Amino acid sequence: MGGLMLVKAIRVHRHGGPEVLTFEDVPIGEPGPGEVRVRNRAIGLNYADIYFRTGEYTPPALPFTPGLEGAGEVVAVGDGVREFAPGDRVAYYSAVPGAYAEEHIVPAHHVVSLPDSIDFATAAAMLLKGLTAEYLLHRTFPVQPGHVVLVHAAAGGVGLFLTQWANHLGATVIGTVGSPEKAELARRFGCDYVIDYRREDFVTRVREITGGQGCHVVYDGVGKTTFPASLDCLMRFGCFVSYGSPSGPIEPFDIMLLARKGSLYATWPLLPDHLVRREDVLEMSANLFRVVTSGAVKVPIHARMPLAEAAEAHRRLESRQTTGSTVMLP
Ligand SMILES: NC(=O)c1ccc[n+]([C@@H]2O[C@H](COP(=O)([O-])OP(=O)(O)OC[C@H]3O[C@@H](n4cnc5c(N)ncnc54)[C@H](OP(=O)(O)O)[C@@H]3O)[C@@H](O)[C@H]2O)c1
Repeated sequence: MGGLMLVKAIRVHRHGGPEVLTFEDVPIGEPGPGEVRVRNRAIGLNYADIYFRTGEYTPPALPFTPGLEGAGEVVAVGDGVREFAPGDRVAYYSAVPGAYAEEHIVPAHHVVSLPDSIDFATAAAMLLKGLTAEYLLHRTFPVQPGHVVLVHAAAGGVGLFLTQWANHLGATVIGTVGSPEKAELARRFGCDYVIDYRREDFVTRVREITGGQGCHVVYDGVGKTTFPASLDCLMRFGCFVSYGSPSGPIEPFDIMLLARKGSLYATWPLLPDHLVRREDVLEMSANLFRVVTSGAVKVPIHARMPLAEAAEAHRRLESRQTTGSTVMLP
């Protein structure tokens, strides 16, 4: 058993605004059985990090280190780990926070080998958001050529993966965005039609674009402010996929609303449920790496920031100033 060493990490001692993120020396030990210690070269910023910071999601304990994904080199492996060895280039997503650090210990179950062509910043910018797009487009509602797909917050982190990948699958993609700059970006990343939902009524525009038919599926990572209007964008038997709520949670509603809006389907899926089996971790990440290395899906790195500036990164994400992915460098 090795002793403890100190690494730089972001800590949260009490829940609150971005100011509760402090940069400190934190002890780290050796990986336990089935675990891998990774020296992070890049760390992904995700909206869920904000929920853990505010206390909306419950961390395992206080204080804790936020962060759900990173990429770097393996520095040590615990008993029973045969898939990885020190020096391997890897990326990981884990539902248990701790990635905002120079080094992080994660279960090998959540670690994947990186293809040589994918650098660490790209990996940290794509894994969580890209795996989310993978299951939303293939498992939650399998998008087929000819489908009409509505993606809310299309210029966001998950949004730009959904738009490009749905386009690659042969769908017609309609995106909503919060500014003219974001509209331009969404257009460049796979949207056939873009609606600025802060200036235009998106239901009216979707009805116009689809000739009154509506969409096959709505991917809604916005929540309160786009509900129940999103249901009015669907065709009969269409599928409402709610997967995020940065504008606040959707109020409880009468399930008969789905009948009245045209026998709709509605679901609220979560990434961790899709990654319970190791074979799914491998299959979903292989699918993601394939579309990225082929060039069909480009990884939109909006900003690279020092890990010590995590508070500023959070401020920008929650005030709608970011587009695509932000990565932090330890
Ligand atoms: N269910 C899952 O498995 C899963 C997995 C990954 C992420 N998520 C969720 O998906 C959502 C998007 O995550 P992300 O990391 O990719 O974030 P993001 O989309 O890059 O950022 C959030 C975007 O939402 C839009 N938005 C609308 N109203 C907002 C408000 N009141 N406050 C802040 N933003 C608002 C903004 O875009 P506009 O300015 O264009 O409106 C903003 O840029 C989050 O809720 C996240 O937790 C869920």
